[in-house]
Amino acid sequence: MGSNSEILRADSLYHIYESNAEDGNVVALRGLSVSIAEGEAVAVVGPSGSGKSTLLKCLGALMKPSAGAVELAGRRVTRMTGPELVELRQQTVSFIFQDANLLPHLNALNNVAQPLLHQGVLARPARKKAQELLDRLGVGERAYGMPEELSGGEQQRVAIARALITEPKLILADEPTGALDPITSREVLALFDRLHKEDDVAFLLVTHSREVAAFCERSLELREGRFIAQHGVDVDIGELSGSRELIVDDSGTVTLPPDVLLEIGGPGRFELPEIDRDTLHLERVAEDKVDVEGSEKMVLSPSCPACFHSYGESEEQLCPDCGSSRPMVQA
Ligand SMILES: Nc1ncnc2c1ncn2[C@@H]1O[C@H](COP(=O)(O)OP(=O)(O)OP(=O)(O)O)[C@@H](O)[C@H]1O
Ligand SMILES: [Mg+2]
Repeated sequence: MGSNSEILRADSLYHIYESNAEDGNVVALRGLSVSIAEGEAVAVVGPSGSGKSTLLKCLGALMKPSAGAVELAGRRVTRMTGPELVELRQQTVSFIFQDANLLPHLNALNNVAQPLLHQGVLARPARKKAQELLDRLGVGERAYGMPEELSGGEQQRVAIARALITEPKLILADEPTGALDPITSREVLALFDRLHKEDDVAFLLVTHSREVAAFCERSLELREGRFIAQHGVDVDIGELSGSRELIVDDSGTVTLPPDVLLEIGGPGRFELPEIDRDTLHLERVAEDKVDVEGSEKMVLSPSCPACFHSYGESEEQLCPDCGSSRPMVQA
């Protein structure tokens, strides 16, 4: 890959579903950050209810997170509205939802052509390209079927064709092969793989399938609205651990979570007494608690970004009301 540019970046996302019902508000995202490089394929795995679909909707700017920032292709979507946002989304990203979400009053061909028509492409070339994609996905002969007349697997393939027709740089997909039989599922994965390898399309895929996760360069494990671990290609989804990892990126940057930062005594200057492959040992330079050059002074946030709980004098790392991570903010 060799490129450091990001197609997608999210910083400290929180999302709360407000409800007046007895079971009250649901905190679905509790402070999570993620970065996807151009052309990278990443899987999101995690149990039902862990926030996978919520995360995808926030990342694709279909839903505004309660707090936090999302950048698509270097532009801050959480600050954009209206036509500007729609345009950026159309140019950059496509979705494949958990349930196919086809427009019920349009046949398969027109469902697939519709995003191009939206972009002002003429009907004839748009339909031609739509038919080619339907053929590629093995549902070409169902082009004139209405969604309700198609099987679940056929609907899902039509939805995939619709996602591909705009040639997006990023595909956000929620269980894209969930409704497919193993053979069709493998064909769809092979198509994704070609798009990934030949056209440099980036993917963020929510999946329960080991085969889908294996197609990705890494898998992120989501639990209760937070990423708790990252796994390589050989992840065994059946045996995910609750272990904790820090990620050092291509540029060598590692971000310490606030509680780890607090535990090592806050910002400062550190020595590396020995440098070995695969391990890093940091030792604080004695008494040297001077401000790190150029950085702002950061303190624990006085309130929870998700539910607005006030921490008062407490040094808690997790919100006692909603369980969100407590972020650091500028003093
Ligand atoms: N519209 C909503 N209103 C209220 N709560 C919601 C809403 N959508 C999701 N939730 C809740 O938010 C949490 C995360 O839901 P989400 O759909 O993101 O989970 P998921 O990981 O996609 O699960 P699954 O694997 O079952 O699809 C769950 O507790 C869910 O009940
Ligand atoms: Mg879901």
